[in-house]
Amino acid sequence: MSLEIRPARSADLPAMEALLQASHLPVDGVGEELPHFLTAWQDGRLAGMVGLEVHDGFGLLRSAAVDIGSRGTGIGRALVERVLAEAASYRVREVYLLTNTAERWFTRFGFRHVDRGDVPEPIRSTAEYRELCPASAAVMVREIERRREGR
Ligand SMILES: CC(C)(COP(=O)(O)OP(=O)(O)OC[C@H]1O[C@@H](n2cnc3c(N)ncnc32)[C@H](O)[C@@H]1OP(=O)(O)O)[C@@H](O)C(=O)NCCC(=O)NCCS
Repeated sequence: MSLEIRPARSADLPAMEALLQASHLPVDGVGEELPHFLTAWQDGRLAGMVGLEVHDGFGLLRSAAVDIGSRGTGIGRALVERVLAEAASYRVREVYLLTNTAERWFTRFGFRHVDRGDVPEPIRSTAEYRELCPASAAVMVREIERRREGR
């Protein structure tokens, strides 16, 4: 089965919200941040998604979700790798995320646990950080390598 990963469009929003709800992840704010979301499609069906908010040079990875019937086939990995590659082109220095359930999974991509006191203000002021995730969520960070330009 072929997999297509492409930026989200407004017509995708209902399917994206349904996938987030089914994955027990926050839906708030996705509509406003749509240009920063990637979607994965298999046989015309939304199989997965991930979002990257950019705040003052810091990235916030959010809403990583794969349809339950498609999990374990590498779609999550493909989405996270693609969004991290895009983070480099947005001149993001670090990408943060909050997760209740997938801390171990994100270590595969170089994320490490960070104390809340060490989280920069632009990330702490996001709606996701302040409201969407409960205080028990783990906060993780990954540095983004700068791309060499002009060669
Ligand atoms: C986390 C999630 C996005 C992974 O997507 P996926 O497409 O199944 O992931 P991949 O196929 O790329 O990777 C599968 C591997 O990751 C492991 N894995 C999947 N979810 C995991 C988790 N929550 N914790 C630890 N490992 C996990 C699988 O066991 C599998 O291991 P293997 O390679 O040794 O067989 C998906 O399980 C999901 O949508 N979960 C619910 C929503 C969620 O928790 N999102 C993250 C918070 S933002």
